Amino acid sequence: MKTIHISADREYDVKVDVDFTVQLSDLARDRTRVAIVFSESMKARIPTFDSGDTEYFYLPIPDGEAGKSASVLVHAWNWLGAAGFTRTDLIVGIGGGAVTDFAGYLAASWLRGIDWVAIPTTIAGMVDAAVGGKTGINSDYGKNLIGAFHSPISVLIDPVWLETLSDRDFAAGLAEVVKCGFIRDQRILDLMHAKTLHDIRSSREVTLELIERSVAVKALVVSGDFKESFDREILNYGHTFGHAVELLSKYSLRHGECVSIGMAYIAYLSERLGIISSDIRALHIETLSGLGLPISYKGAEWPELLAAMKVDKKSRGNTLRFVVITEVGKTQRLENPIESELYAAYERLCQ
Ligand SMILES: NC(=O)c1ccc[n+]([C@@H]2O[C@H](COP(=O)([O-])OP(=O)(O)OC[C@H]3O[C@@H](n4cnc5c(N)ncnc54)[C@H](O)[C@@H]3O)[C@@H](O)[C@H]2O)c1
Repeated sequence: MKTIHISADREYDVKVDVDFTVQLSDLARDRTRVAIVFSESMKARIPTFDSGDTEYFYLPIPDGEAGKSASVLVHAWNWLGAAGFTRTDLIVGIGGGAVTDFAGYLAASWLRGIDWVAIPTTIAGMVDAAVGGKTGINSDYGKNLIGAFHSPISVLIDPVWLETLSDRDFAAGLAEVVKCGFIRDQRILDLMHAKTLHDIRSSREVTLELIERSVAVKALVVSGDFKESFDREILNYGHTFGHAVELLSKYSLRHGECVSIGMAYIAYLSERLGIISSDIRALHIETLSGLGLPISYKGAEWPELLAAMKVDKKSRGNTLRFVVITEVGKTQRLENPIESELYAAYERLCQ
């Protein structure tokens, strides 16, 4: 087991390579009631917990983004009320990022904040969503518009969940791992060098080291800057263009696939602007394509993409902002690059 400590609104540990059933029984020991929140599609994989005087309650919610809704939240509040959940009880989210975002927000909003535990079951959840204390649900006006910063008391990463992930979801989760490599950790890129998705999946050791290192990158950033300001923004490397692609694809692409396209775009743009060398641009393309992630784009037209980037949350007023790297591990902000260069990078991406 490897433990990564996070110091934010509270101190807590992310434990990598644990048996979640054993760890959860320990954490639940002194609680009267524990709510297990999970998505309906994962029902068969949720064990029945039984320990001492603790009473366990099980709350299935709709799969994916449908679960992160106000109506499901209202149902969950009523359910907690009926079960008599008090300030000293515990909520546990077992699932992908959608479930841990929802469970965390349920915990944040119940009695002005009760303890919760995240048990992420996707790579994206393990290295990103469950770490850092951002919780929330969607509104009819957009994703993640309702939320709170409310860190869990523990994050438990059990590799048993990885076995059933599809190759597509596994690769999409690795896009965030590649991002962590470029913004902070050369070793991640070295571990992935010349590796295919199959090479990585078939090595438990490499997979776990990649997860640990990515969690460590996120931990470093969120510990230094719990709320959103520039340091935390570096986690959005590749996301300005990626979010625009995601929005315009109407969420038909996985988030990680959009981030992959976004990193390819920022690599082309940065090379054009002389911010990175052609070698670093090539490293982006080789690493992402080696994992089977998309590195080109044939979707929306340029004016739509530009408009979507301008409403991205990293843009302030009329300023279009990107996170760029100058070399592996060194980030900086790029504001309002010349539009002809933005367009030229888009054309390169479309080739
Ligand atoms: N809070 C944050 O900081 C943060 C950061 C990034 C993403 N997010 C959120 O995370 C969500 C995306 O998370 P995600 O990519 O994990 O998607 P997800 O939670 O929607 O899960 C994707 C699919 O995988 C299934 N699944 C989950 N675990 C599985 C397993 N072990 N085996 C087989 N199938 C499994 C789910 O049922 C679902 O159908 C989004 O809602 C996003 O907004 C939050």
